[in-house]
Amino acid sequence: MDGPSGSGKSSASRGVARALGLRYLDTGAMYRAITWWMLEHGVEVADAAAVAGRAGEPVLVIATDPDAPGVTADGRDVSAEIRTGEVTAAVSAVSAVPEVRARLVAEQRAIIGEGDIVVEGRDIGTVVAPGAPVKIYLTASPEARARRRTAELTGTTVEAQRAAMARRDTLDSTRKADPLVMAADAVELDTTELNLEEVVSEVLRLVKE
Ligand code: C5P
Repeated sequence: MDGPSGSGKSSASRGVARALGLRYLDTGAMYRAITWWMLEHGVEVADAAAVAGRAGEPVLVIATDPDAPGVTADGRDVSAEIRTGEVTAAVSAVSAVPEVRARLVAEQRAIIGEGDIVVEGRDIGTVVAPGAPVKIYLTASPEARARRRTAELTGTTVEAQRAAMARRDTLDSTRKADPLVMAADAVELDTTELNLEEVVSEVLRLVKE
């Protein structure tokens, strides 16, 4: 399940995993955890060579239970820390570094290799699991995406979120390494007018097809 931020990927992926009794992997949380670690260790995130040089250092462990997602970095639970504005503002720069992607894609493939799973991200259908039996690309209008994200956060406005998301989308879709693009064989699902239950049942219908 790929798509931009605020498209409803996380809730939909978890809902689908629960309904099918499958594991769930939030690859964005892995990019966020490595970004948190770089910031925590004083690595200049705009310096791609500095990030590349330390990309292999943090030990990341990600949970795959849709009812108890979470991630640790060097043994510390950073599930809350990875959602801060500081990490969100830095994550696109860190995830554009090829050494970071190579490492995380290998770890994601190892987790996927352990059995059936719902995976959410930006490059799952194109790079991480091009042979996935079902590929969904979730979209929503910029307004709907900004409204959803604003409802999850405090102290922000729809306008501020819309601008922050547009910036992150541009960085994610124009980077050289594995940019955010829809896989040619993915089904596009526009969630602008749908609630979570409707998105999950549409995905389940596509899975059964
Ligand atoms: O999904 P989420 O918004 O948590 O992802 C955070 C960031 O991680 C994205 O903006 C993107 O830069 C990066 N990412 C990525 N590839 C993935 C998942 C996330 O580059 N598969």
